[in-house]
Amino acid sequence: MNQAVKPRKILITSALPYANGPIHLGHMVEYIQTDIWARFQRLRGNSCIFAWADDAHGTPIMLRAQQEGIEPQELIDKMKAEHQRDFDDFMISYDNFHTTHSDENKHFSEQIYLAAKAKGNIATKTIKQAFDPEANMFLPDRFIKGECPNCGTPDQYGDNCESCGATYSTTEVKNPYSVITGATPIEKDSEHYFFKVSDYADFLKTWVNSGSVQKEIANKMNEWLEDGLNDWDISRDAPYWGFKIPDTEDKYFYVWLDAPIGYIASFKNYCERPDIDINFDDYWMTDENGENNKTELYHFIGKDIAYFHTLFWPAVLKSADMRVPTGVFCHGFLNVNGQKMSKSRGTFIQARVFLDHLPAEPLRYYYAAKLSNTVDDIDLNLSDFQQRVNSDLVGKVVNIASRCAGFITKKFDGKLSSNLADEALYNKFIDASDSIAEAYESRRYSKAMRETMALADLANQYVDEKQPWVLAKDDSKQQEVQDICSQGINMFRAIITFLKPVLPELAVKSEAFLNAGELHWNSVKEPLFDSEIIKFKPLMTRIEEDKVDGMLAANKLLLAEAAALQNNDHKEIENEDKDPIAPTIEFDDFAKIDLRIVKILNAEHVEGADKLLQLTLDLGDLKGQRNVFAGIKSAYEPEELIGKMTVMVANLAPRKMRFGMSEGMVLAAGPGGKDIYVLNPDDGAIPGMRVK
Ligand code: 2FM
Ligand code: ZN
Repeated sequence: MNQAVKPRKILITSALPYANGPIHLGHMVEYIQTDIWARFQRLRGNSCIFAWADDAHGTPIMLRAQQEGIEPQELIDKMKAEHQRDFDDFMISYDNFHTTHSDENKHFSEQIYLAAKAKGNIATKTIKQAFDPEANMFLPDRFIKGECPNCGTPDQYGDNCESCGATYSTTEVKNPYSVITGATPIEKDSEHYFFKVSDYADFLKTWVNSGSVQKEIANKMNEWLEDGLNDWDISRDAPYWGFKIPDTEDKYFYVWLDAPIGYIASFKNYCERPDIDINFDDYWMTDENGENNKTELYHFIGKDIAYFHTLFWPAVLKSADMRVPTGVFCHGFLNVNGQKMSKSRGTFIQARVFLDHLPAEPLRYYYAAKLSNTVDDIDLNLSDFQQRVNSDLVGKVVNIASRCAGFITKKFDGKLSSNLADEALYNKFIDASDSIAEAYESRRYSKAMRETMALADLANQYVDEKQPWVLAKDDSKQQEVQDICSQGINMFRAIITFLKPVLPELAVKSEAFLNAGELHWNSVKEPLFDSEIIKFKPLMTRIEEDKVDGMLAANKLLLAEAAALQNNDHKEIENEDKDPIAPTIEFDDFAKIDLRIVKILNAEHVEGADKLLQLTLDLGDLKGQRNVFAGIKSAYEPEELIGKMTVMVANLAPRKMRFGMSEGMVLAAGPGGKDIYVLNPDDGAIPGMRVK
């Protein structure tokens, strides 16, 4: 950065996670994206404050606390602590993590609402809404289930069918019932408060097209703006977990009103800290022209909540005469192994489970290598993840230092040369600096990673060609060895600087090894001469496949337990009487069942069968193979099963089915649908082995 340029003052946020569930790797895409940007800005010498919070209000949180028999406050406190532990362990360098259930947020929510009201931007209307007569409360759409109006599948959510994919409105659902009590909802009138977004239509048309949002988002927003904006319902009836609307008895702010205000509240809470000397108004208020040119404000969000952030939110801020965001940065969703994250496939990976098995930095790097400034989804392919991290970070980056450091330490007491052996080559690293910075600035992290890895390739090629290990044997070539290895160390140092926003721990370890202070973006322009490095210790280790497999297995187990618990709470209890335990059998009867370990050699869809997969099972060399039709199609894709061990009833008489002969039965358990789990013996199981 040009030193004459004044450092920028930036405030950034990530979307606020709901305080009723754990953080998963989908959330982490955004937090890592935000964190890399924050670290990059700071590395460039700018001030970048990262403030956010837990999204702690709303019906789901209220009901979850009830279910657990605790107060909502206890639930949100517990979740906040868990969330922060996950963020810390993923090295998210936030400055403040607050909660929307805070005094500051109550204050700003009321203030903003009253300002809107004073301007005439609030309207009241009586609307009809679904009401649970037993729970005595209005029901949000997702708390109503029933039969799909299109295909008749039971237990579908009030707005879409998981079975046929149809979307519809809650009133169209057949035989609807409340998820809370099972009662049939009735329709009831209620007075609601609305924010008249259309009062700000002209402002929004300008703002959305001013470069503040990505092209693809602006296009979508323009469509909505052309269709005309509906008033936004910002109230909910009691009982509700949130802030009461001023001058009302039983009306609360809808969680989506006070959630973004949580950005302001968290920042305010940060400013109030005794050790912080930052002027709140500089970041959130406007000058006499209604603008704020002192500071920049950016929100990082997922594309699913663009509507709230690029229409409602700027309009609400404008109405309160506050500053509007400089930019809203949307990202896509995370897929795992090419498919949507799924609980039944076990790919809804919790942050904590990941951290229990694997270090954070590889995932930070992998996400960076995939992220760009578009709203395209990104894919976490777990074998590619393992392979790429090992090859790029261990095989390329760390390798440069480990190949050069030994010679410098052993032969030259750790001292680097006083010149660059190949200045032209080093200049390529300096030259790359602006383009990599531009890639970070514009959130094209994948480009930044690509360019950095190309430099790592250059550095490795240099060492390969120079072969210092050959020269080291020749006494007359010692100076050359020192120069080559010093060049290598300096190229390594430049690469670490470029990677520092993504890999903060590797950077700290490398700074210790280089022994020449903290790296800043401009450090690349000042290579190390005559300074002393310390003895090299491995900076990063390879990721082994069994760690990734162990993480996935642990996650699957956790999801299965959670699903079982939930089903116990709901369906299973209701079904208890419908599924009684069968009459007692004697031990001799049980002993007749021959349970064997089998390997699933092949799994295929069965044409015309809704529930069945055709499995080819291997019972080991002596016992041969079996063809079995198993009713597990709703829970597994065939390719997920291939190669797995499971347990079968090996002496069940073959049965002729419509699709062919079934020669045994595979053991599986679960409530049904996506939650059917084939038994998965631990490592060490051998096909044909008897199960005892
Ligand atoms: O979609 C969500 O997970 C919301 N909790 C995000 C809120 S972001 C902001 F508006 F506070
Ligand atoms: Zn349907």
